[in-house]
Amino acid sequence: MNQLEKAYDPETFRRQGHAVVDMLADYLADSFSPTPALPVIPWRTPEEQLRHWQDDLATPSDADPLALLQSVLEESIHLHQPRFMGHQVCPPAPLSALAGLLGGLLNNGMAVYEMGGPATAMERIVVETVARHLGFGAAADGVLTSGGTLANLTALLAARSRLADVWQDGHRRSMALMVSEEAHYCVDRAARIMGWGGQGIIKVPVDAQYRMRTECLEPLFTEAQSNGITVIVVVGSACSTSTGSFDDLAAIGAFCTRHDLWFHVDGAHGAASAFSTKYRHLLNGIETADSVALDFHKMLMTPALTTALVFREGRDSYRTFSQHAQYLFSEQEPEWYNIAKRSFECTKLMMSVKVFILLRTYGVKLFAEYVDRVIDNGKIFAELLHERPCWETAIAPQCNIVCFRYLPEGVDEAETDAVNRRIRETLLEDGRFYIVQTTLKGRLWLRVTLVNPFTTAREMTELLECCEGWGR
Ligand SMILES: Cc1ncc(COP(=O)(O)O)c(C=O)c1O
Repeated sequence: MNQLEKAYDPETFRRQGHAVVDMLADYLADSFSPTPALPVIPWRTPEEQLRHWQDDLATPSDADPLALLQSVLEESIHLHQPRFMGHQVCPPAPLSALAGLLGGLLNNGMAVYEMGGPATAMERIVVETVARHLGFGAAADGVLTSGGTLANLTALLAARSRLADVWQDGHRRSMALMVSEEAHYCVDRAARIMGWGGQGIIKVPVDAQYRMRTECLEPLFTEAQSNGITVIVVVGSACSTSTGSFDDLAAIGAFCTRHDLWFHVDGAHGAASAFSTKYRHLLNGIETADSVALDFHKMLMTPALTTALVFREGRDSYRTFSQHAQYLFSEQEPEWYNIAKRSFECTKLMMSVKVFILLRTYGVKLFAEYVDRVIDNGKIFAELLHERPCWETAIAPQCNIVCFRYLPEGVDEAETDAVNRRIRETLLEDGRFYIVQTTLKGRLWLRVTLVNPFTTAREMTELLECCEGWGR
């Protein structure tokens, strides 16, 4: 066999595929065991990491590709371990990852219906399911896209297109969005990408719980108007990234209605609460939004990237890109099944299958159980912190994101920052846990996002004991 034939040989694939699934199943079993063999994060500096893989390619220690995969597995960060409490990326349900493998091999391009029929239909069903849970009516529609960043930008482009025929004529007037100062940086970036510059982002201050102070919307809006800036959209955070704070969506919605503004909700993390009965209240008012972004890869057990961008009025989803591509689309009509008409991407992943398979196999109940479990965990962690001396939380957590810090006795703020920084660095090098840090009001806080549904009070307590050991 020549190299090409070898690379596509079905029997080789069968053998390797079985071995990879066995390897991953062993990995899962190890991850869920009380004392996993692998660290959560096998820390290497970026330079060491680069050298390691350069050496590996130059002189492979083992020619077997499975040895490489085993080594990638061992050297990576391990989200399935309950001691992973770091950034907002979930441990995917294995079945969803298998759908990803299928999608990876089939490689349906998804831009037009012919290049991905089943996944296109599934995409519509997944979007409808999200829309229903958000409280949208039958007119809602949308697309799946590659990440919350892109979904937010796409929604803001739709908002802009409602105001003027920017697509055709460009725009000369100064435009702006209003958003909480605690919003994810991608909203700021989107405004700058659209050419609005720094003055195009009006940052609304937050209250003690890091929620947008909605009473500031009106005066900031009036001030922008008097400066000749046209505000076209308000972005609500559900929730914010650093502290997991949910803005008052009902108040923002009412403000937008009053001024005929577009209302977008960045629900990349927290819109998943729409699937929970217990935590649905966090999203009160979301049903008044014009558009909502929701990341399945953050809070709904799906491999990255899988994001739903849903419009309350489905026709709005066709406004964003009114480009003619004669080799792709024969008509300029709204065609739900030719997805590239409405998505930033041309070719994209078959992401709908990864969600559809979970819905079909376990039902939406799975999503509810997950959301309830991880948000409950945020509250459990806060209680554990409050029971111990020398710990404080930045706020009472509203979801599974908790900011906290160790407060050694008799030291000032600067030293407290230094102690917490040292704790986090030591944790990183130790590798048994993974947590992150953030800055709030100029001070350093440790931060967890409890995305692993199998994290329990046991791992949380172990984490605190470890930190206390290093904080003294
Ligand atoms: C509130 C919020 N919006 C958007 C994003 C960006 O999402 P993505 O990483 O899927 O592009 C994040 C990521 O953490 C986020 O927390």
